[in-house]
Amino acid sequence: MTKAEDVSTAGALALPPWSGHYFTKTSYNAPPSKLDARNVKLSRPFVVCITGGGRGLGEAYAIAYAQAGASHIVIAARSVEELESVKAKVQDTDSSVVVTTVRCDVTSESSALELKSAIQKECDSRLDVLVNNAGFLDSESGWKPITEGDPEGFRQTLAVNVFGVYLITRTLLPLLLGTEGGAKAVVGITSFSSHFASYSISMALSKLALNRFVEFLDKEYREQGLVAYALHPGGVATKMSTSEGVPKELQKFLISEATLSSHMLVWLTREKRQWLSGRYVASTWDVDELEGQKEEIVKEDKLKFRMVV
Ligand SMILES: NC(=O)c1ccc[n+]([C@@H]2O[C@H](COP(=O)([O-])OP(=O)(O)OC[C@H]3O[C@@H](n4cnc5c(N)ncnc54)[C@H](OP(=O)(O)O)[C@@H]3O)[C@@H](O)[C@H]2O)c1
Repeated sequence: MTKAEDVSTAGALALPPWSGHYFTKTSYNAPPSKLDARNVKLSRPFVVCITGGGRGLGEAYAIAYAQAGASHIVIAARSVEELESVKAKVQDTDSSVVVTTVRCDVTSESSALELKSAIQKECDSRLDVLVNNAGFLDSESGWKPITEGDPEGFRQTLAVNVFGVYLITRTLLPLLLGTEGGAKAVVGITSFSSHFASYSISMALSKLALNRFVEFLDKEYREQGLVAYALHPGGVATKMSTSEGVPKELQKFLISEATLSSHMLVWLTREKRQWLSGRYVASTWDVDELEGQKEEIVKEDKLKFRMVV
């Protein structure tokens, strides 16, 4: 057992059972060796598009797909400099991977169309996996009570985390669905905060909506072969999560490595897992235990957001 496999947060944080934190008995904060993306051989061509691919988790996702053998990675964000830096790191990982950087604001329709054109031109219209990772947190006022928060911060959070996900997905869906033999996967990077009516209201609401969005995708496009997941990355120290204004008591949740969710993401999308489509998946879970509950998950329609009655 590696040090990473030995790390278990279950019990230490004493979280409510409905948060799903204990859905598998074993939990991780670093990827277990069985999920190591370096041992995966994706069949080429394999094209992945990652929004928010310029730093933080998006950077880890681009590197993990390169390790797993993706042939082409498209990374999109507003900061071109950050995208170029991630491109260099990906090509250091595997020089045979083609990386396309696209300056893109996920809330802009013209940006979304430019991203689509880049994939049509550079990837011959092929797209296997879309990772909706770009996200915004109103770190200044998102934590304040409703009457004290900044409406602009609220609007911006919902714009990036909900409208942006909707816009990029609807724009790129024809490419995903049109890729013959493709993975046809959409992943939205959600948050544990979507379970709670506390902390940042805009973040919690936006990720709750994202969870439901993947359920819509599954329902509407399942027959066309699409799979859609909401993936919680764990608590990871990034520019967003450590920005000034984020309450200190939340820092104790930033105990996961960025590679925890990047390797889980590769596992999730390296083959079709229709039984998990439309559902919430936490990167902290053990995949063998998760697969062991496959029948129950489908039969009882678990890992979706439902009212307690
Ligand atoms: N870190 C955690 O513990 C944690 C936990 C749960 C969920 N998440 C989710 O994980 C995702 C990644 O966050 P992170 O922690 O890696 O934060 P981060 O390091 O701040 O990265 C955020 C990324 O999103 C991009 N972005 C923001 N607004 C954008 C826009 N309008 N258009 C295009 N790209 C935009 C940023 O690039 P530009 O600013 O250059 O555009 C950046 O590349 C987010 O969806 C976040 O909610 C994180």
